[in-house]
Amino acid sequence: MKTMTSIEDLRKTARRRVPRQFFDYADGGSYSEQTLNANRADFERIKLRHRALVDVSGRTMNTELFGKPVSMPLAIAPTGAAGLCWHEGELELAKAAAKAKIPFTLATGAMTGMEKIAQEAGPGVGGRLWFQLYVWNKREMSYQLIERAHRAGFEALIVTVDTIVPPNREYNTHNGFIAPYKPNVTFALDIMRHPVWFTNVLMKYLTTIGMPRNENYPDEYKRLDRDEPGTYELTRQDSLNWDDIRIFRDKWPGILMIKGINRPDDALKAIEYGVDGIVVSNHGGRNMDSVVASIDALPEIAEAVGERLTVILDSGVRRGSDIAKALALGAKAVLTGRSTLYGTAVGGEAGAFKAINIIRTEFDKTMAYTGCNRTDEITTDIFFGDYGSNRMARGSA
Ligand SMILES: Cc1cc2nc3c(=O)[nH]c(=O)nc-3n(C[C@H](O)[C@H](O)[C@H](O)COP(=O)(O)O)c2cc1C
Repeated sequence: MKTMTSIEDLRKTARRRVPRQFFDYADGGSYSEQTLNANRADFERIKLRHRALVDVSGRTMNTELFGKPVSMPLAIAPTGAAGLCWHEGELELAKAAAKAKIPFTLATGAMTGMEKIAQEAGPGVGGRLWFQLYVWNKREMSYQLIERAHRAGFEALIVTVDTIVPPNREYNTHNGFIAPYKPNVTFALDIMRHPVWFTNVLMKYLTTIGMPRNENYPDEYKRLDRDEPGTYELTRQDSLNWDDIRIFRDKWPGILMIKGINRPDDALKAIEYGVDGIVVSNHGGRNMDSVVASIDALPEIAEAVGERLTVILDSGVRRGSDIAKALALGAKAVLTGRSTLYGTAVGGEAGAFKAINIIRTEFDKTMAYTGCNRTDEITTDIFFGDYGSNRMARGSA
């Protein structure tokens, strides 16, 4: 890993190490991937200026999130795929986050149980854990999940609201990676091309629990190949609405966030419902396509809510300079999904830590170049031109 110096380096290596079905699942976007591409392109269009002759020798990336210290304004986004990239990949990722002193979010669909994560990477070892929830039709199941998360010591609940219908990720269909999951000939050939993954990941599951499972689901629904009639009905999410948020606010005593906001009126409504934070996110371009890039949606939302709740951004963060851009436009922190997933695929905990450190180093240098000693000094002053004119330039491009 020594020679890998960017997230793109980790991505290329991950592509070689993980079977194609799973790499494509982690890497790709939905439909024509317009949102996936816009997430990167719109970050890259924002240009910075360096500021000369400022003493930045005492600079620090340390800041606070929800009143508690973090070593930088970054947290790990929930991704249901870390356990396919590495044996118990979520645990590896959570340990790396704890070591790096940033929060880790466990996804509902993770392949490692939340109690194990809490025990090995939770507050006892300095970790901060958030739990991401998909709200199922059978609400009682979702309530049971959050009770477990609370008991296990998770400090925050993130309700994801942008996945109300299953998206079409066309490569999944082409690769045969669709629910209910049935290993097929394509998968067998794919595995033969990835013997190290077979030994280090799949065999470890097969010799312990069998095929990887959604470990946080109730027992009868854990299997990925579950195809009993009614499975879709059970997990469908299209009845999710603001009354649910009210119920989660009543039930969840900790920090409550909504993930998947991309309009100011929804953000303002979240305040009415007692939500503590929102994640401005388009799910990394994996759900609805042709959606505005998160970095473009951010300024209007941040301006509308001001200090009344914590605004976090995700979708497209691959560089430390992206964090500076998001902070300048009103985010308090960012989440990253794929960056640390690539790292996990390359080297488990060490690989995830490497990904975090790449972003950390880049962010530190961006702060230095732009003359910022503290994260709250990062404003649109670091931009070339005002952001409004950047947006017009994009509109006319
Ligand atoms: C493989 C993969 C699985 C994901 N699974 C979930 C999930 O289970 N729940 C969720 O809220 N978001 C999920 N996401 C979305 C991430 O939380 C996050 O919004 C997104 O990855 C951010 O974009 P980025 O990958 O460009 O950083 C997933 C993303 C990826 C790449």
